[in-house]
Amino acid sequence: MIKKIGVLTSGGDAPGMNAAIRAVVRAARVNGLDVYGIRDGYRGLCEGGENFELMSRKSVTDIIARGGTILGSARLPEFKDIEVRFVQDEYRDKAIQNLKDFGIDTLIVIGGDGTYHGALRLKNAGVNVICLPGTIDNDIAGTDFTIGFDTCVNTVVEAIDRLRDTCGSHERCAVVEVMGRYCGDIAKAAGLATGAEFVITSESGLDLEYVLEKTKDYKLHSKRHPIIIVTEHITDVHDLAAKIEDYSGFETRATILGHIQRGGKPSAQDRILASRLGLAAVEAALDDNCGVCMGIISNQIVAIPIEEVLNSKKDVFKNFERSIVTLS
Ligand code: F6P
Repeated sequence: MIKKIGVLTSGGDAPGMNAAIRAVVRAARVNGLDVYGIRDGYRGLCEGGENFELMSRKSVTDIIARGGTILGSARLPEFKDIEVRFVQDEYRDKAIQNLKDFGIDTLIVIGGDGTYHGALRLKNAGVNVICLPGTIDNDIAGTDFTIGFDTCVNTVVEAIDRLRDTCGSHERCAVVEVMGRYCGDIAKAAGLATGAEFVITSESGLDLEYVLEKTKDYKLHSKRHPIIIVTEHITDVHDLAAKIEDYSGFETRATILGHIQRGGKPSAQDRILASRLGLAAVEAALDDNCGVCMGIISNQIVAIPIEEVLNSKKDVFKNFERSIVTLS
């Protein structure tokens, strides 16, 4: 029977991480488990000491509505990069020793792709670890949606609605860069929700000629304010805006939404998702079902082995590009 669990958040923060921490702490306490909150992700896990803090029901009071993560987060490439195996092993061993010193039976990690790779290394070294999907990018398989994605899309939609107001007034075209790493889900969801004219993602690629011809056509047919949403890492949006302006005759402005997409109060959807998954993670730990990633697929809680999740792809927004073009 397990007695102590640890919980940490790692990688880019995401709205709803606090709701997940709260659920883990409350579910653990109800079941008589001690919970250590580990500060600053894998860095805190490796450094040990004061980064490990015993948490009570009260430690998580009023955090369900807060953005960011009360535990802090960090990126620690040394923990997972295959190229630096020597450094990697050293970090991993320190982490394992700290878990032993604090008597932690199971570790719950909340984060994205990098966090899951780190968790796999721990699992392969015999650590009981359970993953929760916390990232705005929605690029983790094993769940329809990740914690933070819904809030992020709402933030993006609000920003694009504002851009449409000003673009409409000035008869301008807007090119908007959104986050997502190499996943187009934020762009696709926001594209359909804002009635954008184009969505350019790593899945669709950038067909420059098509975008230029279409915007020129919009100009000729008196469309006042085309919106083009582009996922980061695809092209320089300022450069793209200049090309569109030259070719189509539309005055064009590029906006990079940046880190505002990661902040803010979590939406109700994210709080619900995070609460369900946090509770499910503790129940999995109590059932000794470790080495898995918790998720919700078609409204059912699932627990899928970490390696399987890391080797899978999902596409919850299949054909969205087509819907966007049809409706624009
Ligand atoms: O993974 C979340 C994310 O916000 C990505 O969308 C983005 O590419 C990256 O993190 C930005 O990372 P950082 O905050 O380290 O600049």
